[in-house]
Amino acid sequence: MKKVLCFTLALVLLVCVSAASAKDVVIAFSQIGQESDWRTANTDDLRSAIENHPGWKLVYDDGQQKQENQIKALRNFITQDVDYILFTGVVSTGWDEVLKEVNEAEIPLLLIDRIPDCADKIDYVAAFGGDFVEEGRRQVAWAGEYLKKAGRGDEDVNIVIMEGTTGASAQTGRTEGNLKALKEYPHLKLVGQQSGNFTRAEGQAVMESWLKSIPKIDVLIAQNDDMALGAIDAIKAAGKVPGKDIIIVGCDSVKAAFDAIVAGEMNCTVECTPLYGAFVVPTIEGLEKGEKFSKQVIHPEEGVFDTDGGIDLGTVKSVKAADVISQRRY
Ligand code: AHR
Repeated sequence: MKKVLCFTLALVLLVCVSAASAKDVVIAFSQIGQESDWRTANTDDLRSAIENHPGWKLVYDDGQQKQENQIKALRNFITQDVDYILFTGVVSTGWDEVLKEVNEAEIPLLLIDRIPDCADKIDYVAAFGGDFVEEGRRQVAWAGEYLKKAGRGDEDVNIVIMEGTTGASAQTGRTEGNLKALKEYPHLKLVGQQSGNFTRAEGQAVMESWLKSIPKIDVLIAQNDDMALGAIDAIKAAGKVPGKDIIIVGCDSVKAAFDAIVAGEMNCTVECTPLYGAFVVPTIEGLEKGEKFSKQVIHPEEGVFDTDGGIDLGTVKSVKAADVISQRRY
């Protein structure tokens, strides 16, 4: 009788243990939307990193560019009692309350791409994102150095800045970097500054209106490649030659921008990597093993790609896009 009881107990224990170990690690991701090629690459990369990991399950929510949708998604994740939350916010402000709720629910939070303004008031495991101020500085510095190299360093040149989604840290940071660098190049005269909302369609529309209202545009700084590509369509439609009549500097380094540079229609793209799966996976694996992380901030190494390479920007030297296009993953 004793033996039977012991055997039954052992069996129950075994079933319980295997049921627990079979439970998936649930990782929820509140994404902004799908406004650009960069964003699609970011979603695809994180999705495949998580879904291809044995024992991990992804709960994905597309906020469709609306903060209220993202707040609702974060509260749903709390109700579902997910194991981890990945979050990137459409704008920088207005997250304090909901992210405190995530902290109160003791769900480890990983910040991806855009870091909210309240980051110093909340707990998070790690933040993986681009250095937006440096990316913006590189864009303008590239134009200034390129013009110098072309013997146009003393010429007054008209420059327009097409900004991303207003209030996004990618917009505020890049604008800060753009404007700071402009001070180093007094011959670059700012004649237009407007948001194209990080989309190709709005980039095209803003460029169309600038071409009608600004008599001479020499350089376009577009805070992402999608807006630069939309602007290229507008420039062509206006009978001008993109990449020649107007020098075009984008940001992100998506494949379509590489194609445009190699085709001579765009001049430069400053890299902002969307590939954070390689950062997220070891972090969650570490947490699962009981390792501790606290507010680790990582800006990945990023390059600058252009028509000829060799432009020295202090922190980085540009690389000829045609030489590395075959290695691009997105
Ligand atoms: O936050 C990163 C930015 O968001 C990328 O530069 C842009 O393409 C995206 O939409």
